[in-house]
Amino acid sequence: MKGISRREFINKTSLITGASYSAMYALGLLQSSPAKSISFSKHGNEKGKKVIILGAGLAGLSSAYELNKLGYEVQILEARARSGGRVWTVRKGTSETEIDGKLQTCTFDEGQYLNAGAGRIPHHHEISLKYCKELGIAMEVFTNVNEAAFYYSEGKGPLANKSIPIRQVHADFRGYTCELLAKAIDQKALDLPMSQEDVDKLLEYLKAEGDLNIDKIYQGSERRGYKKIASAGLNPPQFADPFLLREIIYSGFTHPAFQNVGEYTYNQQPIMLQPIGGMEQIPKAFEKILANKIIFQAEVTGIKKNENGVKISYKDKNGLMTESSADYCICTIPFPVLKNIPSDFSDAYKKAINDIPYMNTGKIGLQFKRRFWEEDDHIFGGITKTNMNITQIFYPSTGFLGQKGVLKGYYNFHNLALEMGNLSIEDRLKRALYEGGKIHPQYATEFETGFSLAWQKIKYSQGGWAAYTNESRQLHFSTLQKPDGPIYFAGEHTTYLTAWMAGAFVAAQHAVESIHSRVSKK
Ligand code: FAD
Ligand code: ALA
Repeated sequence: MKGISRREFINKTSLITGASYSAMYALGLLQSSPAKSISFSKHGNEKGKKVIILGAGLAGLSSAYELNKLGYEVQILEARARSGGRVWTVRKGTSETEIDGKLQTCTFDEGQYLNAGAGRIPHHHEISLKYCKELGIAMEVFTNVNEAAFYYSEGKGPLANKSIPIRQVHADFRGYTCELLAKAIDQKALDLPMSQEDVDKLLEYLKAEGDLNIDKIYQGSERRGYKKIASAGLNPPQFADPFLLREIIYSGFTHPAFQNVGEYTYNQQPIMLQPIGGMEQIPKAFEKILANKIIFQAEVTGIKKNENGVKISYKDKNGLMTESSADYCICTIPFPVLKNIPSDFSDAYKKAINDIPYMNTGKIGLQFKRRFWEEDDHIFGGITKTNMNITQIFYPSTGFLGQKGVLKGYYNFHNLALEMGNLSIEDRLKRALYEGGKIHPQYATEFETGFSLAWQKIKYSQGGWAAYTNESRQLHFSTLQKPDGPIYFAGEHTTYLTAWMAGAFVAAQHAVESIHSRVSKK
């Protein structure tokens, strides 16, 4: 009998099971995360060399941190009054005025917060975790995958408009697809040249994976939970009845928005982590070390190369135009902002800065009087998914069984985020409460206060993260890896780890390494 290669096997089975990514990773066909860190050592030439860094986000802060350790003179110019950039923890007193928007001030209770930007760290983002460890940041688990959270399909199919525990859809979907595959194999309907031993092993796996009965039929499973939670074990357990496969399919639960996240994506598989007390702990810890090296409220207004290095113009906190010169510059300003700053960048860089698209994305934090998702629905962390504009609801991974809590009432992308972001602050809140209230009727009585943001409208970001197309990656990525004379580009947008803090760190490391090696040759 003709054998079958691992790749052929994956290609054929993944169409049916949807398991190709995890199967590939398990078989070692995917590379591990590139988010590794390197360490630098002094070579003696760094003394007296000045590097000016534009932006105190994680790329800017970590560049300064490493260069400072090596003995360079560093200065960071940061437009905001805080460090962190897209690492931003919104809490009581935080205020923000979006572009063309009005002032919004957060009125969460003391101790409650929303990670408005970065919120979770994959366990294999070695470089992010290395900095957390080095900076002494206390960490806790971020629950990204929770079978008790819900799928909610608005207006679509036989299961429309119901808050359905994810575990039920997962168990049924796995059960039916395994049953189908088992039947096809039994009937030799698959074009898979396999030995009898292979077939037996695969059937054995499918029975276990789908919780099939002895006849390889899926008839529901205890995995999907009980009709009623057996009270103290005194009543016989009654398993909830399975949905039909077609009910699941026609309700849209096979759409990637529901399935293609969480445990399916390498960057979102458990375990994920978060700093205790908010993601801002990371920039705050850098800031402590770099205290006198950051000039806040220094808005860069001009970037120019000259024979000695660079000259940067900026508006200081009193509105005065000021200049600062250095041998080298690391520019971490996000491109939607940078493209409007006068500069003498060479053409290839100007094109890259203009062309690379950014993601629209927004979030809202909703504070509730009572953690009803825990008390009533047994949801401790994790994410509910829906086809409504809000896209998803995140439950806090901290403060379990406390009194109050802040949910992420939406976290959306693309046009959905654009649409939501174009509403007034009041209307965003209304919509988040209206849509979320369909999933959790408790919203109506338990809501207290909210804070929302649209990243594309935040002045010094103007987008969530670089969202390269194949074309823009092809055209511009390699340009950004090289300096434009004395100016180096860093930030998540200069890496393949866009949308991750690890991208900012990796980029910073690359810029520091390049400058350090150049200086060593002087
Ligand atoms: P930034 O943080 O944007 O830093 C750039 C800095 O430049 C800012 O401080 C800005 O104020 C400053 N600046 C701008 N204009 C000027 C100017 N004219 N003059 C001076 N300074 C200026 N990552 C994760 O690891 N996990 C997550 O869960 C995650 N979720 C995310 C969710 C959202 C909604 C967003 C938006 C991002 C998320 N990320 C996540 C990505 C992560 O936050 C970013 O990749 C990272 O913080 C980018 O850092 P940076 O230094 O490249 O850029
Ligand atoms: N990396 C970002 C997140 O985790 C997009 O949501």
